[in-house]
Amino acid sequence: MTRKTRPGGANGSTAADPFLRNFWYVAAWSDEVTRAPLARVLLGDYLVLYRTEDGTAVALENRCPHRNLPLSEGNLVGDSLECGYHGMVFDADGRCSHLPGAETVPDWACVRAYPVVERRGWVMVWMGDPAAADPALAPDHHGWLDDPDWLTIKGYCDAQCGYRLILDNLLDLSHLAYVHASTTGNRALAEQATISAETVGDGVRVTRWMSDVPPAQALIDYAGYDKPIDRWQYSEFIAPSYIYVNNGTEAAGQGVTAEQRRESQGKWGFVVYHALTPATERTTHQFWAMSIPRAFVPEDRIETFEAQMRHIPIEDLLVYEAQQTAIDLDPAAGGDVRPLGMIDADQGLFAMRRILQRLHAAERRAAG
Ligand code: FES
Ligand SMILES: [Fe+2]
Repeated sequence: MTRKTRPGGANGSTAADPFLRNFWYVAAWSDEVTRAPLARVLLGDYLVLYRTEDGTAVALENRCPHRNLPLSEGNLVGDSLECGYHGMVFDADGRCSHLPGAETVPDWACVRAYPVVERRGWVMVWMGDPAAADPALAPDHHGWLDDPDWLTIKGYCDAQCGYRLILDNLLDLSHLAYVHASTTGNRALAEQATISAETVGDGVRVTRWMSDVPPAQALIDYAGYDKPIDRWQYSEFIAPSYIYVNNGTEAAGQGVTAEQRRESQGKWGFVVYHALTPATERTTHQFWAMSIPRAFVPEDRIETFEAQMRHIPIEDLLVYEAQQTAIDLDPAAGGDVRPLGMIDADQGLFAMRRILQRLHAAERRAAG
């Protein structure tokens, strides 16, 4: 009997690869990538990130081909990384430029170099076939992140859960009523919302509209509402693992039109960006940011506001990490959520999962 082997993709991926490879993924915030090598696992690959002397971000395989010491344990010499064990030097393209004591460099002395694009604070790495790495495909929807007229609060969570659980969370914002009840949520968000979800190409757009509802605590504190309001939440999924959220409010009866809900914050609101990069099947790099027009937060309250906003991702983290624990203890779950039914608020996240399945099938076909 001959043993069947599965064909490998350009990156060594197999038909059973749990990750979508041919996409740009956020590997780090720009300020995390410096002249000190940064080790990070992305989609199960071990990478080292650093900057060349002119500031260009570089991503290389973090495994010396000699005896496998991570190159992040070594030192930067000019634009190259010197292995900390026996001194082989690798340039920014992954080629060995120096093998101590040898006049020539053998063919095996190289590491994989990953294409990199840096945009508005995100260092993005192409995890698939390098020949398909088109910078024009890198996300650029996070326009307020580097706008000086907007206050941006950003962070990173080393989430101990699969990335789809975080996408689920952000495509069903009814959870604000229960998870963020002390700040941005109240019961009206779950009880009085009209929800619509549509699939557009490889994206999903979920709109939640609440008419004539009581303001949540943060809206009383920062927008000064003391009467009922119209409130809208718009969540957009951008494949494979990005989320844009727009939140807006107006006095009741003055809410914006359906078309404006994607962009307008009305009298008071903010946007949220999440980039979710799988580290492993059960762990995720969560790069999150919220941006708000500076005029919406008085100067002397920025510190309090920031502390509140930084607490929100932690409230969510507790939820999806606890879900992952329950999933891991369910032998029938296969590592991902196993719902026994669906509620109205799930429309967007089911649509997102259908897209992921379609994209996985396409990558499997392409891999042969
Ligand atoms: S392990 Fe890197 S040079 Fe030997
Ligand atoms: Fe949340």
